[in-house]
Amino acid sequence: MASHWPENVGIRAIEILFPSQYVDQTELETFDGASAGKYTIGLGQAKMGFCSDREDVNSLCLTVVSRLLERQHVKHSEIGRLEVGTETIVDKSKSVKSVLMQLFAESGNTDIEGIDTTNACYGGTAALFNAVNWVESSSWDGRLALAVCADIAVYAKGAARPTGGAGAVAMLVGPNAPLILDRGLRATHMEHAYDFYKPDLSSEYPTVDGKLSIQCYLSALDTCYRLYRKKFDQQQKDTSKQPASLSTFDAILFHTPFCKLVQKSVGRLSFNDFLLSSEEERTKQFPDLERFNTATLESTYFDRDVEKAFMTQSANIFASKTKKSLLLANQVGNMYTPSVYSGLVSLLISGPAQELVGKRIGLFSYGSGLAASMYSISVTQDAAAFEKFVSQLDYVQPLLNSREKVAPEQFSALMEVREKNNHAAPYTPTGSISALFPGTYYLKDVDALHRRTYERTPTISNGVH
Ligand code: HMG
Repeated sequence: MASHWPENVGIRAIEILFPSQYVDQTELETFDGASAGKYTIGLGQAKMGFCSDREDVNSLCLTVVSRLLERQHVKHSEIGRLEVGTETIVDKSKSVKSVLMQLFAESGNTDIEGIDTTNACYGGTAALFNAVNWVESSSWDGRLALAVCADIAVYAKGAARPTGGAGAVAMLVGPNAPLILDRGLRATHMEHAYDFYKPDLSSEYPTVDGKLSIQCYLSALDTCYRLYRKKFDQQQKDTSKQPASLSTFDAILFHTPFCKLVQKSVGRLSFNDFLLSSEEERTKQFPDLERFNTATLESTYFDRDVEKAFMTQSANIFASKTKKSLLLANQVGNMYTPSVYSGLVSLLISGPAQELVGKRIGLFSYGSGLAASMYSISVTQDAAAFEKFVSQLDYVQPLLNSREKVAPEQFSALMEVREKNNHAAPYTPTGSISALFPGTYYLKDVDALHRRTYERTPTISNGVH
């Protein structure tokens, strides 16, 4: 049992997984008959990862959890809580968490709290918060927690299809972490909205009101940011210090349905800073923008002048604090629940680890429907520990480079196979096993009672990939 209140609770290790195959967005534009540049420049997407019928949410979670435990040499008995966030539901009753318990069977550890959480892309953040809350609570028994998020983001043919993707992230949570969740600095906004939802339980595809979803995202961002600023200012003991603003963060990461929206979001936060600043600050920090003095948040979600002016105003902030976090989102697409954590991984691998030591990272997590939070993470001051933590991610870039490009025709055909056989039973998937990365769990078959069986591709010498 723990004998004292745990300090510096946060992420002690992070593992990411993305599909081994992708489609090129330029080729997809041509294939879809979209105008050249719509997906690549208009949405800011270069490649889109996808899964064949060999992978489902269970297999993604089995793979990412196994890899994390193997790479970190964590014993199965050391885990006391495991939370899963996902919106890729394959069973209305049986949780993904219970499927993951297969991995713990041999160790005999069945004393693991936590279960699945669903609300669109927000489930991963809910899983992380639950894991952190457990470690910080009187229920904590001194062991580590795992927060797992995974999704396969697929859309019907049409405007939303290029904003798909897939992936999984597992985070090991405990005290004395290199990435510490700041206490008392979570700002949440939840509201009822039908912007993106999955009412057809027989289909993997969502019902989407694209324009409304963007408005909901931006308005939740406004609300969370203003609340975060307020909570931050209340925590500052020294009232002579500058109030919170974009300068509070050394890096700022966002849930990323497509990269262009993130660039606009940085502009949106700058617009909030502008509206919340005094006249004197406005003149100093926002020269030549006085024409927006009377603008309001509600009237400007799709106001081109405001958007352009504040994207230009915040261009340096985007370049220095956010752009690096978009690597995986640009190369893989929307992962749904893991999206903002793929941003965290992208940031961590973007340059020398020392540059992030002691820094503050802001994160905005959004899930349609809607649930959103802005919170912050402080990077440890312990440079050696942080470098070691980051070096565990050395595999990410080579793995990304080793993916196989698939022609849009083949991608479209594989989407049809998924679509046709979604929930089929009995069913034996036809997707290639050899196309998967080493150490990947895959769906072997589904029997007549819808029971799913998984196998794993061979691991290579280090036992991980
Ligand atoms: P659309 O409406 O067909 O696209 O689909 P558009 O006409 O708005 O074009 C997109 C951008 O490309 C525009 O840029 C065009 O101007 C530009 P903007 O003007 O907005 O800056 N464009 C071009 N640029 C260069 N060259 C060209 C060209 N042509 C056009 N030739 C939409 C876009 C996002 C609506 C669609 O893809 C969609 O519905 N996606 C899914 C919904 C979504 O991603 N929403 C985001 C916020 S909600 C969210 O994040 C939650 C989510 O992750 C789900 C969850 O929570 O689980 C989705």
